[in-house]
Formats: sequence, C-alpha cells, structure tokens
Amino acid sequence: MKFFIDTANLDEIKEAYSMGMVDGVTTNPSLIAKEEGAFEEIIKEICDIVDGPVNAEVISTDTEGMLKEAHHLAKIRNNIVVKIPMTVDGLKATRTLTEEGIKTNVTLIFSPLQALMAAKAGATYVSPFVGRLDDLAQEGLVLVEQLVEIYSNYAYDTEIIVASVRNPVHVLDAAVIGADIATLPFAVLGKLAAHPLTDKGLKAFLDDWNKGKG
Ligand code: E4P
Repeated sequence: MKFFIDTANLDEIKEAYSMGMVDGVTTNPSLIAKEEGAFEEIIKEICDIVDGPVNAEVISTDTEGMLKEAHHLAKIRNNIVVKIPMTVDGLKATRTLTEEGIKTNVTLIFSPLQALMAAKAGATYVSPFVGRLDDLAQEGLVLVEQLVEIYSNYAYDTEIIVASVRNPVHVLDAAVIGADIATLPFAVLGKLAAHPLTDKGLKAFLDDWNKGKG
C-alpha cells in the first residue's frame, strides 16, 4: 500500500519523507492557503523533496480554465498530478488531459457512480473523502469497498487514494479493503507508528539492562 502525505507544509513533508514513508503528496487549495509563499513556488519546493506524485489542484470551475491551469501545472515538473474537481466540467477536462498524457486525480468523490465516471474519463487517481462522509454518518469506508469492487469488475487502472483520513482506523480499514493509496495528515502518520506497549516494553528492556549490565 502506498502512503501519500496530505499537506503542503514543507517541514512535515521533509520529516515524513525522512521516515521513508512517503510515496507521494496531496495538496488542495485549503492546505496551500495555510502556507507562506506563492502556489507554484510551494509546489516546486515539494517536488524538490519528493520524487513521487505531487498533487496540485486547479481552482477554475470551467473546463477551459481547468485545462489552462493543468497545462501550466504539468510543466512545473514531470511528477505533477493535476487535481480536478468531480464535476461535469472536471470530467471533460480529465478526458482531454488523459488523452494528452497528463496525470489527473479526480477529487471530492463522495459516491461510487462519481468514481465510475472519473475512471471512464481516464483519471489516473480518484480521491474518495472518507472523513467528510463519516461526519454525515455515511460510512466513508463503505464507499471505498464499493470502488475497489467496481474497479476490479471492469479492470480499471484508476488508483484509489483514500482521502480525508482522520485516524489510524481509516488507514487500517483502507488497507484491509485493498485501496491502492491512503493520503495521511502528518499527525495520523505519527500515530500509526506508536503503541503504548512498545514504549512500555522498551523502557522495561532498558531498565533491566541498566540494572544487570549498567
Ligand atoms: C485529499 O486530497 C484532500 O486534500 C484531503 O484529504 C481533504 O481532507 P479533509 O476532509 O480533512 O479536509
């Protein structure tokens, strides 16, 4: 399973990358807005750290505007993936970008039929937002199960990025279901590595060592 990190913060990306746990990065306009500096500069700096896919999102809502932004973004580096919102205009843009060989991530997916349409449009990735569905008591991971089954039924190559991840259980369930990728906030990545019994066990080993051999 691939882990992406869901942040535009360079310190978080550097730290996660140094753990050897980051296969790619997802950003969105809200995450970019939290950071200092121009959008393009932030994306370039992320690409200097990470050689896997770096997702940068368009802000236009019409096909023509999305294509213009996407062409510009795709020229920044060859590992850029252009995030396109799941709308009819977005599907049209995705189809064109796929034909041009530009990688896309259709984002803001909340239903299996949206994801089916994105795959039909040739999306490289889709991003179902599990946490935001859970917030509405709609079980985001059920959506991921459905996507895995639908894409397997029709042998779509589109990869599923489980997004809007809020806790380690989201990651565990995504892995058990067989999602291709989970994109994790930095805080969740840290929680995956931690277990109180590991800390307790390590302390006991060191205490015993110091008593007997120290
Ligand atoms: C994914 O690409 C999005 O950036 C992200 O996962 C959204 O998460 P949120 O619902 O916590 O904002």
